[in-house]
This record gives sequence, structure tokens and C-alpha cells, in this order.
Amino acid sequence: MKIASIIGARPQFIKAALISKELRKEHDEIIIHTGQHYDDELSKIFFDSLNIPKPDYNLGVDSSSHGIQTGKMLIGIEELLLKEKPDLVLVYGDTNSTLAGALASVKLHISVGHVEAGLRSFDRSMPEEINRILTDHMSDLLFAPTETAVANLKKEGITNGVHLTGDVMYDALLHNIKIAEESKILEQFNIEPKQYLLITVHRQSNTDDAENLSNILEALSEIEEKVIFPIHPRTKKFIDIHGLKRKIKGNAVLTKPIGYLDFLWLEKNAKKILTDSGGIQKEAYILKVPCITLRENTEWIETIEDGWNVLVGADKKEIIENVNEFAPKTKQRNVFGDGKASKKIVDIITSFTKL
Ligand code: UD1
Ligand code: UDP
Repeated sequence: MKIASIIGARPQFIKAALISKELRKEHDEIIIHTGQHYDDELSKIFFDSLNIPKPDYNLGVDSSSHGIQTGKMLIGIEELLLKEKPDLVLVYGDTNSTLAGALASVKLHISVGHVEAGLRSFDRSMPEEINRILTDHMSDLLFAPTETAVANLKKEGITNGVHLTGDVMYDALLHNIKIAEESKILEQFNIEPKQYLLITVHRQSNTDDAENLSNILEALSEIEEKVIFPIHPRTKKFIDIHGLKRKIKGNAVLTKPIGYLDFLWLEKNAKKILTDSGGIQKEAYILKVPCITLRENTEWIETIEDGWNVLVGADKKEIIENVNEFAPKTKQRNVFGDGKASKKIVDIITSFTKL
């Protein structure tokens, strides 16, 4: 069977890597890269380090407003689907590439599989929440990472095609953490295990809003410990736009985005992680590193319920307090599956395409 995987942003390359490997044992896969992320450090380094096959197509949509970016993807994807005629399209996560991939396919009556279905933050001001809801409602196969995700779908009346598979990012982490042991990233930054904090920021609500971004940078400048800050290009752009460069002081070490293996090693050895990323909240939990989430809500609610993650928004005082005091005490549950989600997903696809 012919499967088209549509990916375009950093976390989607990580999610697709193992699935692509599994898929190619039994199916023909074509990879369509939308071009949403195009810098080498957000795209090429992941294809290289995770041995993801070179995309068959790159639409080169580039950065733009949501409407222009999603519209360009829709036009390009439709053209390719008409040409390639896949039996199933696979989309991942919650980006504009996810929404465009699902919408182009469903309009052409091509079945859609959604990896990481059923996640909800219940915050409709997040572009990702809209992408998730719409994609789930267009999908034929919904691969839910957690029981919470299955329950969320049920509340919206979606039960057909829903499969609890576990989380593919958990698979990826288990697979790659051993390889990450070879990393020399701590030596490169001259840091010792558990003697530094790691921070990432890229959420629209934190970057585009000058006050929120300013609060986060001020909090960093007041923290005593060394902070490693691999900076997303969106955040870099908005630091310039809002004129906030002068706020970066103290022990923060700014660096360009880091490759996945080095980044995993930085996460594992961090004392605490501060982030507004979805994937990093999960990875922090799995690696048993306390996580301080720079958001008011999260779709990874289990990490909060278990006491390993705390929501602080962009509140400077809360950020500093939690850097100093947050200490998870409770035992973790096993919420992200058994590390075999990718294989389960491909088995379900195989049975589906045989129907
Ligand atoms: C996108 C996703 C977000 C995901 C994130 C992963 C949407 C709506 N957002 O956010 O859900 O968590 O990817 O990292 O799909 N830029 C570059 N180089 C690049 C790509 C982007 O410089 O290769 C800059 C551009 O200035 C661009 C900005 O980053 O305007 C934002 O990029 P965009 O892809 O629109 O959204 P992200 O913030 O990356
Ligand atoms: N990541 C990375 N290098 C970095 C920052 C993040 O490899 O400098 C990885 C991280 O380990 C995780 C994924 O990128 O697997 C998360 O992507 P991101 O935070 O961009 O998006 P989100 O998960 O919020 O959609």
C-alpha cells in the first residue's frame, strides 16, 4: 500500500522517524515536507541524525501568516496527492502542516491517520488547539497516545477509528537516549550534570506578546544558576522586534537550536527544565527531570497530576519561586505506553489498508 507522510516542523520529524522505518517494512512511503521549518537546525539536522529518508517532495512554503502558510500548503499538497494517489495520508501532531495535510486529503476522499490524536489544552486561543480539533474530526484513524486523549475524543463524539497506542515520542526517546550517551554537549558548554537549567520558549502566546517575553527574560536574568537557552528562531525574531536584547543578562547561555541527540542529553542532565513546548514537557517527565511549564494550561495533564510538572505561565515571580522550590515528590505512573507505539500504529495501518 502507498502511504504519504506529511511533515513540516521539528517535532514532526522526531515523531515520524521510527514510524517511517516501520512503515517501509511493509508499505511504500512517500514523504512530503511542507517546508514550514526550513533552517538546517530545525529540519536537516533531524533528517540526518535520525536517518529519516530524504523527503520525496518539499513544498517550500516558508514562514507567513497562518492563513497564507496553511493555504499554500493546501494547494501544494492537493497537487501532490492527485499525482501520487496514496491509499492513506499520515499527519502528525498539531501544526499548520498537520491541518493542511488532513484537509487536502479528506477533500479528495483519501483516508487520514492522525498520530498524536485527542490532545486538548481547552484553550482555543492556541493555533495548535484549533489544528488538533479540526484534524481529529477529519481523521479515519486516530492514534491516541494516552487514555486522556481517548477520553477527550469520546467527549467530542469520536470513537470510530480511535486506537490507544502509546506515545511515539516515548519510543523515540527510549530508542535514542542510549545513542545520546555519546554526546559531548555538556563538555561543549562546560557544564556538569544537574548543575544547570535548560529552557526553551517558542509558543505564540509567549513570543508575540512583549510583556510575556519580557517577564520570562527578566526571570532568567535573576536566576543564580547557569541556564542553557537554545533559542527558537521565532523567539529570536521577537526579542529583536520587541527590543528585549538588553534584558538578557545573568547566567543565561543563548545558543542556536540543538540537534535531538544532544538536546536529549541536555534534558537528561538538567536540574530542572523550563519550557512552553509540548514535546519537552513529556520528555522531562519521562527522564524524571522536574518541569516548569511557561503556560497557563497543558494538553499533557498527566505530568501535572503526577506532580512532575507545574504551570507558571509567564509570571516572573512564579518562575523564580519554582526554579528555587519546585521538587516533585510523588511516584510516576506509566502513562505514555510501552515504547512500542510506532509498531502498533503501523500494524493498525496494515489492517486498515487491507480492508
Ligand atoms: C510551529 C508550530 C508549533 C510547533 C513548533 C515546533 C504552527 C501553528 N506552529 O511553530 O505548533 O510547536 O512549530 O517548533 O504550526 N522560522 C525561521 N526558520 C524556520 C522556521 C521558522 O526562522 O525554519 C521563524 C520565522 O520567523 C517564522 C517563525 O519562526 O515566522 C515561526 O515559524 P512557524 O513555522 O510559523 O511557527 P513556529 O513558531 O515554528
Ligand atoms: N528539540 C531539539 N532541539 C532543541 C529543542 C527541542 O531537538 O533545541 C526537540 C525536543 O527534544 C522535542 C522536540 O524538539 O523532541 C520538541 O519540539 P518543539 O518544542 O519545537 O515543539 P512542540 O513539541 O512544542 O510542538
